[in-house]
Amino acid sequence: MKASTLFTFAAAAGLASAQSLSTDCTNSLKGLLTSPDAACLNPSALLSFFVGNAKSVPDTVNNWLTGLCSTGFCSNETLATIVTNITTGCASDFNVAGGVPETVTQIVQEVYPTARSIACLKDVPTNQLCVSETLTSLETLVGKLSFSDLNVATAFGDFQKIVVGAQNLACTGCTKAAFRLASQLSLVTEFPQAQQQAALQIDAICGANFIG
Ligand SMILES: *[C@@H]1O[C@H](CO)[C@@H](O)[C@H](O)[C@H]1NC(C)=O
Ligand SMILES: *[C@@H]1O[C@H](CO)[C@@H](O)[C@H](O)[C@H]1NC(C)=O
Repeated sequence: MKASTLFTFAAAAGLASAQSLSTDCTNSLKGLLTSPDAACLNPSALLSFFVGNAKSVPDTVNNWLTGLCSTGFCSNETLATIVTNITTGCASDFNVAGGVPETVTQIVQEVYPTARSIACLKDVPTNQLCVSETLTSLETLVGKLSFSDLNVATAFGDFQKIVVGAQNLACTGCTKAAFRLASQLSLVTEFPQAQQQAALQIDAICGANFIG
């Protein structure tokens, strides 16, 4: 399912500790934090993460998305500038010495509107952002999340608790709405079998026809 891939990617990008990135890459990311080009991604709200403040993960993400969702969409030109900036600065980190293929920009441009829509989904009864609500529910399962102590080792331990608590976490109107949005991506519609498989897996956790 593409939505979860996106979230995983976003989480992985967030978890990669700033120290493990090259200087060029860190400089590119720092430049973007204050660049007018990237304002549509509201990166300055993530500043506390970069300077290592121990703010709660749900609060930081909620601030970031609240700002991002009240800002307009990034234009394709802006996205291309951002992708070029990051992929140039972080080429050695991504192991793409030969340069980043042109298609990366195109994929980002195609996925971005859907990813933004999913990131900005609100749970109607509570009027909270779905992502923030999910992170808060996650905290009730695995304990307080913080940027500094999230690591692969605890993530594996937490994974078991998440699987056990998955119904509460996964079987929400937010998941349904995110799945519907992700299903419209051309990257997803090109793989109808994978899409159907993902729907069956969600139905297995949440009950038959949860997605349908
Ligand atoms: C990336 O953006 C930063 C800040 O705007 C700028 O200083 C830097 O030169 C850019 N790098 C590239 C490769 O475009
Ligand atoms: C942005 O680019 C993508 C692919 O590169 C294209 O599918 C989309 O229609 C473009 N959006 C706009 C508003 O031009």
